[in-house]
Amino acid sequence: MTSILDRIKELEKSSRLLEPSIEERKQTRDKVIDYTENFINNIYNINAFNLTDNTGEGLLNTPFSEEPIEIEKAIELFKDNVDFPNLNPASGGHLGYIPGGGIYNSALGDYLADVTNNYAGIFYAGPGAVRMENMLIRWMAKIVGFPPETVGNLASGGSIANLIAIVTARDAYNLTTTDISKSVIYLSQEVHHCIDKAIRIAGLKECELNFVELDKNYRIKPQALKDTIDKDKREGKKPWLIIASAGTTDFGAVDPLDEIADIAKENNLWFHVDGAYGAFFVLSESGKPRLKGIEKADSLVMDPHKGLFLPYGLGVVLVKDKNKMNAAHYYKANYLQDAVSLEEEPSPADLSPELTKHFRGLRLWLPLMLHGVKPFRAGLEEKLQLTKYFFQELKKMDGFEMGPAPELSVASFRYVPKTGDANKFNQLLLNEILKDGRVFLSSTNVDGKFIIRIAVLAFRTHLKTIDLTLKLLKEKVQLLLKDWN
Ligand SMILES: Cc1ncc(COP(=O)(O)O)c(C=O)c1O
Repeated sequence: MTSILDRIKELEKSSRLLEPSIEERKQTRDKVIDYTENFINNIYNINAFNLTDNTGEGLLNTPFSEEPIEIEKAIELFKDNVDFPNLNPASGGHLGYIPGGGIYNSALGDYLADVTNNYAGIFYAGPGAVRMENMLIRWMAKIVGFPPETVGNLASGGSIANLIAIVTARDAYNLTTTDISKSVIYLSQEVHHCIDKAIRIAGLKECELNFVELDKNYRIKPQALKDTIDKDKREGKKPWLIIASAGTTDFGAVDPLDEIADIAKENNLWFHVDGAYGAFFVLSESGKPRLKGIEKADSLVMDPHKGLFLPYGLGVVLVKDKNKMNAAHYYKANYLQDAVSLEEEPSPADLSPELTKHFRGLRLWLPLMLHGVKPFRAGLEEKLQLTKYFFQELKKMDGFEMGPAPELSVASFRYVPKTGDANKFNQLLLNEILKDGRVFLSSTNVDGKFIIRIAVLAFRTHLKTIDLTLKLLKEKVQLLLKDWN
């Protein structure tokens, strides 16, 4: 009969395989580095989009098993099934949705964070890690004009960051089940859909959503907001929350934040700004004035995985009032009794739904340290200028109908053929762009119109990409017109 000690030793032998030797680490790492180096060295030549029937189903042919596979095989599976099909979000040709790119030094930050597995949830356990994350929050607060006592959270993305803000606003106004159906949220039809999702997840789907009238550039009309709040008050409703956008997804529209902030203040409403896409333009010379009033929000979302070009996985929420954010997220647990003894810095676990979390700070701290802020400012200003240039140049081409002049780095347009269904034409035009694959554009639907949009925010997008996009649009229109009608 094997003794317990024999059994433990036998198990140890097998479980120790999780600790590769120096040579094994080198061998695996070299293969991964070879792959990523080759990827980056070719990034300006490979497609932004590969239109294919391959939906990654090849992964299913290698199910998880008790036995390992070689790194070469694992990389091959990744390359063929994950990396190749459809969108390449690292490409400068990614001009759809809201791109960012994924700067390299951020990946190295993740590598450091993952190998050391530092904990950034509670100050007591990881004071340096928490301090680093709070330092980043204070830096972001400073650049948008929030006060130094601002708190916040490094969440996984804009959707979760918006959810945290809405939950904070809910508890700040002590909304109880009896209040919810009378409480009103003022917002625009153009807010990102994650807002609607957050409202439902926060248990607020019975709140009245008051979609405020927009101007012709898809921005909230302050007077309409004022009037509708007054009317709701007269009718005995409870105005509670205003949600404005600092850069909408469809058009990059910036709501008149300054005026909205004043209306919120006069009426004692919580003012939340979703700047997931646009808020980092405060770092740029021409973006900053367009975001005037952002500093007056009670809470703000800004996504480094958009506006600071980081790889996916970092969206930030800032809240001016620490007590309010804490009241919505604090915890108490006997097994965490040691953790409450050190409170020099706020702990992310007290200000968000997460306890154990990825140490996301390092993926932003390292690039900011290694590059300084300057190239980020330049990159953001460059994207604004490129969008302006694109808009001006496309406007000169016959047949294109342009959307609003871009406030930030999104522009929209459609081609209007002399005869026939314009929606069909633009769908075909977009398909032709995707078939080519060198750039990726996405579409939206506004008032029944199929609109193509360009979002310039990937850090690898430069003048050459925009000139290529203009050339492709011209060529593809000519091609389609040959068989049109
Ligand atoms: C304005 C805006 N808000 C929120 C989001 C959601 O952010 P995430 O995709 O990081 O969850 C997006 C995403 O594109 C966005 O553009």
